[in-house]
Amino acid sequence: MSGFSISWLDLREGADHAARDKPLARAALQFLDKPHGALLVDLGAGTGSTLRALSALAPAGGAYIVWRLVDHDGALLDEALRRHGTDCVIEDHQCDLRHVAELPLGGATLVSASALFDLASADFATALLARLQTQGTALYAALNYDGRTQWTPPHPLDAAVLDAFNRDQRTDKGLGSGPALGPDACAWLQAHCESLGYQVQTAQSDWQLGPQDAALVRELVVGIARAVAVHYHLDPDALHEWKTFRLANAGTGTCLVGHLDLLATPV
Ligand SMILES: C[S@@+](CC[C@H](N)C(=O)[O-])C[C@H]1O[C@@H](n2cnc3c(N)ncnc32)[C@H](O)[C@@H]1O
Repeated sequence: MSGFSISWLDLREGADHAARDKPLARAALQFLDKPHGALLVDLGAGTGSTLRALSALAPAGGAYIVWRLVDHDGALLDEALRRHGTDCVIEDHQCDLRHVAELPLGGATLVSASALFDLASADFATALLARLQTQGTALYAALNYDGRTQWTPPHPLDAAVLDAFNRDQRTDKGLGSGPALGPDACAWLQAHCESLGYQVQTAQSDWQLGPQDAALVRELVVGIARAVAVHYHLDPDALHEWKTFRLANAGTGTCLVGHLDLLATPV
């Protein structure tokens, strides 16, 4: 999987926090409210966006949480420590998520992952869930892309670009072997967690982007156009025209990007 820069993670964070389903996030916090405190392991933690989102919703005097942040990118973990090392109890673990058996999950009350499972393959998710079930750990998986992207104003190529983009989202993204779960991530997680005996709740967490998000929309348009430029038989001139139109409308139009959040708790 290619790297994620601090600037990209910062750019999307406002939209992520606005989108995250608040009742489900509060339910995750409630699950963490244990008499002797709780250990939360955040996989693919980046600069600590999940920590910031949950901390903002936590009631005063709420759960005592030890945050174990796991990522393979040391610069992102350093940034998380720089931002929160004095106000939160943080353990940072730089390691590769693909080595599921070696992940530092011991003692975890809840494992979280934001904007991660749509990049993961089924074998990674299967191995991870098996470990979580064995130790009775809950899962909070937020901001999983669900395949919906809706633009205003419309453009004739929108449907073809979205179809190509969603096919690209199901290609191997390097987190596990084989195709990524992509837009099926949340449905896949729900079915799998239920089959393991978890109680599962899901909720929509769509990005609702408008003129105030023009910089994010521009990055999104460039990323989508790049992802579908080869392999999907889109006419290059038509795609270039779509990209030019979308960039020209970034400051005035709207864009909805569908996401789903999931909370799976052991029964
Ligand atoms: C889309 S970003 C999400 C970051 C963060 N959860 C957030 O919501 O801002 C995916 C994160 O997963 C991390 N990641 C990707 N592949 C990884 C791997 N194989 N091992 C460990 N971390 C990985 C990246 O470094 C990045 O921080």
